[in-house]
Amino acid sequence: MVNGSRDETTDEREWETPPISFVNGANVTAADGDALREMDWPACWECAADLLDWNRPFDAVLDDDGVTRWFPGGRLNASYNCLDRHVRDGRGDEAAVTWEGKLGESRTYTYRQLLDEVNSFAAALRDLGVGEDDVVTLYMPMVPELPIAMLACARIGAPHSVVFAGFSADALATRLTGADSEYLITCDGYYRRGTALYLKGKADNACLSVGQEVEQIVVNRLADGDSVGDHHSYEKLVRDHAGAEVAPVERGSDDLLFLIYTSGTTGKPTLVGHTTGGYLAHVTWTSRAVFDLDPEDTHWCSADVGWITGHSYAVYGPLACGATTILYEGTPDHPEKNRLWEVIERNEVDVFYTAPTSVRSFMKWGSKYPAQHDLSSLRLLGTVGEPIDETAWHWYREHVGGGECPIVDTWWQTETGGVVLSTLPGADRMRPGAVGRELPGIEAAVVDEMGKRVAIGESGRLVLTQPWPGMARSLCTETDWGARRTGTVDGEWQYDTGDNAIRDADGYFHLLGRADDVLNVSGRRLSTAEIESAIVGADGVSEAAVVGGTDTVTGSKVHAFVSPESNVAGDEALRKRVRSAVESAIGPIAVPETVTFTPSLPKTRSGKVVRRYLKAITNGEDLGDTSALRNPEVVGELESLLDE
Ligand code: WTA
Repeated sequence: MVNGSRDETTDEREWETPPISFVNGANVTAADGDALREMDWPACWECAADLLDWNRPFDAVLDDDGVTRWFPGGRLNASYNCLDRHVRDGRGDEAAVTWEGKLGESRTYTYRQLLDEVNSFAAALRDLGVGEDDVVTLYMPMVPELPIAMLACARIGAPHSVVFAGFSADALATRLTGADSEYLITCDGYYRRGTALYLKGKADNACLSVGQEVEQIVVNRLADGDSVGDHHSYEKLVRDHAGAEVAPVERGSDDLLFLIYTSGTTGKPTLVGHTTGGYLAHVTWTSRAVFDLDPEDTHWCSADVGWITGHSYAVYGPLACGATTILYEGTPDHPEKNRLWEVIERNEVDVFYTAPTSVRSFMKWGSKYPAQHDLSSLRLLGTVGEPIDETAWHWYREHVGGGECPIVDTWWQTETGGVVLSTLPGADRMRPGAVGRELPGIEAAVVDEMGKRVAIGESGRLVLTQPWPGMARSLCTETDWGARRTGTVDGEWQYDTGDNAIRDADGYFHLLGRADDVLNVSGRRLSTAEIESAIVGADGVSEAAVVGGTDTVTGSKVHAFVSPESNVAGDEALRKRVRSAVESAIGPIAVPETVTFTPSLPKTRSGKVVRRYLKAITNGEDLGDTSALRNPEVVGELESLLDE
């Protein structure tokens, strides 16, 4: 991929086509895609809403009068759409969730069984006092009780806020307080690479530090029985409410389905809210159109449910489509590096969706692992989270997809709720290294710093120029473009995604990474500000800045630049304190790969740290002009330090 500009001419050798067998059976054919693209915006989104069951039909597709509201007037329940309607249609005995546990155990829930347990747990939550619009925090690993708890919350109209189980007690405490959540569902512990990790201790510490009463419900994974101290046992609650039926609460299309934390453009953790009607319509339609899901399909999205990808394409999308979703608790290389391929073979997985960082690891381990298994059930592959380079793309198609499967490189974000840029696998040609065009109903552009369009082949900021149903609620209100990333430029609405991109002559987008202070490590979004504030909390640290490095396997790792207090030495002991401060404030995923000590950080005259220079130094790139800095000499010093 070129960095900066792209040749306008198209080379036929760059294109790959889906096999005819796929094209013939695809949910969205080329003719369907064209017809949708020719429809007026936003009317074209009605087809997404029509995939759902509404208690009250919506009055219009969109109301865009000051505040954007999708499917206004419509009322529905997400848990009804993911469960009851499939049971009603006679599909109660079909598999909804297949869970593959860490110790090699496996459990399948049919739609009927999933509905029963969701009903019991929803009744239990009600009994504990959870009311409509109360936020319930879910701090759980990849166990079936996590989607069950999500759907139970959705059933009673209580927005959930899932916190990734790898986060620390402090990170959980911040997220409990930020979401104003008085209910926490967690697990006693879980296994990672065969070792038991205790989650409840972290949950207890978080609850202690939030300074408000938090009701805890604990799922037992490590211990048997109902012994969870003062807290409620999930198992006992479900048993005590066996056979309960909770009528799904009718939610307005615009009512919150869930809250989720991500890192905002300033690098601080930001709370994002998703709506019931718009979000569910968006993820259901994209599950059918992009992942080509039908009720008879088995879909495996390997992302943790703690992140948006798991919400949209491991839980809500596939279940709303009536498909089977695989939930995998383990790591890809434990006990052996063939574990994923074994799971695909055993479950006859049709669609596999993962991050490019995983594909690069599979490639490093070698093709002998997938070759040991029959992967012929696979029809379609997908990637998300970061750009996939051409080599990894071809390896994935050849060794996992049997040289045949189409690959959808899907671009989207926590804020978009669901996929917005991708090829339609049965309709579009693929260009390895590029994500494809906008999906029908999406409008995107590449603009300069003022929001003006740049020429084809030139790099700039990726913006979306029309609202879409899965958009986060915070984007629905008109604000000033410069400050809040949404607003009007020359009369045109724009949402600034924070990513840089190039659009080629065929309309395909090539993603160039984040333009803002957000880090992307192994396809996961981390906050610079959250990591930096943890580092500054370590004894002896005066200031800190973190940037992402370019790593061939993990995409990008965290690199920290730390300036110690004047009487403190930048030595191994301090380095250790820095690393453990990050581990305890956020979790192991955010721990810096390198810690470089410096007497000061490069700053503008107004005192703002310029991470751009630190990033260039880390990645050995050209620094450009440093004269606008208050202390340009520090950049030179840092460069020579890293060369040593
Ligand atoms: C990056 C995950 C290149 C991008 C769904 C985006 C990608 C951020 C792709 C969102 C892709 C996601 N190609 N980059 N196909 N998909 N990204 O919010 O920088 O965790 O802004 O959502 O991941 O990360 P988030």
